[in-house]
Amino acid sequence: MTNEVPREKVLDNSLSLLKEGYLFIQNRCRQFQSDIFQTRLMGEKVTCISGEEAAKVFYDNERFQRKGASPKRVQKTLFGEKAIQSMDGEAHKHRKLLFMSLMTPDGVKKLGELTTVQWQDRVGKWEQMERVVLFDEAQEILCRVACEWAGVPLKEAEVKQRASDFGAMVDAFGAVGPRHWEGRKARKRAEAWIEEIIEQIRNEKLDSPEGTAAYAMAWHRELDGKTLDKHMAAVELINVLRPLVAIATYITFGALALHEHPECRQKVTKDNQDYTAMLVQEIRRFYPFGPFLGARVRNDFTWNGNQFRKGQLVLLDVYGTNHDSRLWEQPDEFRPERFRNWKGGLFDLIPQGGGDYYQTHRCPGEWVTIEAMKVSMAFLTNQIEYDVPLSEQDLSYSLVRMPSLPKSRFIISNVRRKT
Ligand code: HEM
Repeated sequence: MTNEVPREKVLDNSLSLLKEGYLFIQNRCRQFQSDIFQTRLMGEKVTCISGEEAAKVFYDNERFQRKGASPKRVQKTLFGEKAIQSMDGEAHKHRKLLFMSLMTPDGVKKLGELTTVQWQDRVGKWEQMERVVLFDEAQEILCRVACEWAGVPLKEAEVKQRASDFGAMVDAFGAVGPRHWEGRKARKRAEAWIEEIIEQIRNEKLDSPEGTAAYAMAWHRELDGKTLDKHMAAVELINVLRPLVAIATYITFGALALHEHPECRQKVTKDNQDYTAMLVQEIRRFYPFGPFLGARVRNDFTWNGNQFRKGQLVLLDVYGTNHDSRLWEQPDEFRPERFRNWKGGLFDLIPQGGGDYYQTHRCPGEWVTIEAMKVSMAFLTNQIEYDVPLSEQDLSYSLVRMPSLPKSRFIISNVRRKT
């Protein structure tokens, strides 16, 4: 027996997607009382699925592939063309090992230490400033951290432009028009810069230490024994640098959480490591970042009585799954303590994808993201004090604009070191 998948009777729903943003899939799942429905986006029939069971099936490599799933406009801004995100099978697993090889316990720890040092380094400057825009500062801090961690030289004079370029690539993902074109320009500039770095490493003009991302990308060998071409090595190195800078978004949402939930700040201040870890998980679950993920059906199959046809585009609802009331009690409340008894499921908390790191497309940067967030939350609570001038800013954030961020990018003033 097969089911009739609920279907929207529309010619094309791309405009509604732009108007409803993060809630697009959830709204329709509620309307149809179903974890699955069909719609049309960008002129194509698309199946949307939501929830833990949906995530499980979405990460089944036998059923789904990534080839042909991400639109060119996203590849030309966010991911880079023909990079790991659109690979499948053995070639993908081999490429994934390259990224995972960077995520050793020492590597993760080092990233946290570099992040703390960079935060501490800025306090003197902020003490002299009337207002500090936290998101902008966090992007620059993380750009310095990312480059140092990855073995990419970065001159102080370059920091602003490079940080802003990495930011623009991320900011372009849900955009049409100027924001999209800014992302493309930013990617071109970053690719030219990083290609040059790869060349210098290969010509031994730049000594990039073994174990760094720059070294790994420059010397990685594909399954056929060949090194990546210069362009692809640069694209994959940018796939490390850009998302490290993007952690600024979570840190800014984290600062908002500390502001709106002063009890959380107090608990972090008591330096309760377990609490800080729960706080970070709740920030990643609660606040919007990636709205959904796309894959194409690899072979016909039936799931819960619903037929999936080879080639069909399927979107997994990331935001909706992180706010699914079957998984999260009162999902629209910010409650770090919910993670006290969390079993650590592979398919319920999916802000950075789900499944096994080595077998699927789940984000290889999840551990470093968590580490950078933990030390940043600890820094903001334990090492400095600041005011949040409400009359000068709008702290609200949109669930329509993708990616989202507190509108004023979180302004702080009267920054001082805690004694
Ligand atoms: C993949 C989110 C940080 C590198 C992904 C995916 C998501 C994601 C949703 C797609 C999973 C899928 O396609 O199934 C995030 C968020 C981050 C973050 C929200 C925090 C800001 C990082 C960091 C790195 C990184 C710090 C590297 C150091 C990658 C790479 C992929 C990926 C290379 C592609 C993996 C693959 O296709 O196998 N990320 N990520 N990300 N992420 Fe992250």
